[in-house]
Amino acid sequence: MRKNLSVVRNALARPVKLIGQIEDISGLKEAQSAAFSRSLVAAQEAERKRIAHELHDEIGQSLTALKITLGRARKVVSEPSAQESLDHAQWIISSLMNEIRGIAHRLRPPELDQLGLTATLRTYLEKTLRAGDVKISFTSDVGDARFSPDIELCCFRVTQEAATNCLRHAAARRFEVELRLESERLCLTIRDDGAGFDLAAQKDSGSLGLIGMRERVKAVGGKLVINSCPRLGTEILARFPIRFFTGVPIAGASS
Ligand SMILES: Nc1ncnc2c1ncn2[C@@H]1O[C@H](COP(=O)(O)OP(=O)(O)OP(=O)(O)O)[C@@H](O)[C@H]1O
Ligand SMILES: [Mg+2]
Repeated sequence: MRKNLSVVRNALARPVKLIGQIEDISGLKEAQSAAFSRSLVAAQEAERKRIAHELHDEIGQSLTALKITLGRARKVVSEPSAQESLDHAQWIISSLMNEIRGIAHRLRPPELDQLGLTATLRTYLEKTLRAGDVKISFTSDVGDARFSPDIELCCFRVTQEAATNCLRHAAARRFEVELRLESERLCLTIRDDGAGFDLAAQKDSGSLGLIGMRERVKAVGGKLVINSCPRLGTEILARFPIRFFTGVPIAGASS
């Protein structure tokens, strides 16, 4: 509430009445907090993108140059033990290049811009969960439709955190991701049949994954619901207003 009060005085400067206005500004506060979350998430993503480019362009290119230089040296040395050392050094550089490519990729998956949400999610889930015993199911009825980049990125990050949590905490047998269009909403539903947890007990745990999920979804104007119960698995529902669908703004969606 915002109060605006003023005292009315008589000719002798004595207060005779109080007039005022009380305004409900909870909507304004919510809008300010959403704008703050949005700018935090945008700044974090811009920083991730910058680091990803720097890793790729600066370090990646220097390592390539180093590998070529060692390759030249390898051709002119005749000593077998020196050749072996140079081969080993080249092998280390190749592994480093792969590591760096992986890190840059996780910071900002380039497929998201190139191939869109469905293809990126499918590839990500196959790669990430393939190693474990979890059975993955991914369904999407959005085909290769494109949404606004911040919503696509948000869906990707929410799925990424949910998959990581599933591997770290759930000991699940199944992990399901579903992407659906529902009237004017893009709906992302993620479920696992693992250990589940007590949501109320997580409130002050200091962990950032679930809080970050909420902030991200809120920042793009969406709604997030998490349902979980010990031994009954976990369900994450994220709903987004479709701001741009194949480049055309949909009427009635928030901006
Ligand atoms: N799918 C899940 N199954 C079982 N427990 C979960 C699941 N997701 C989250 N949890 C529980 O909720 C807690 C909070 O999750 P959250 O992602 O916020 O933090 P975290 O994964 O522990 O750490 P980080 O901040 O690195 O993400 C977890 O520590 C875990 O106990
Ligand atoms: Mg987590």
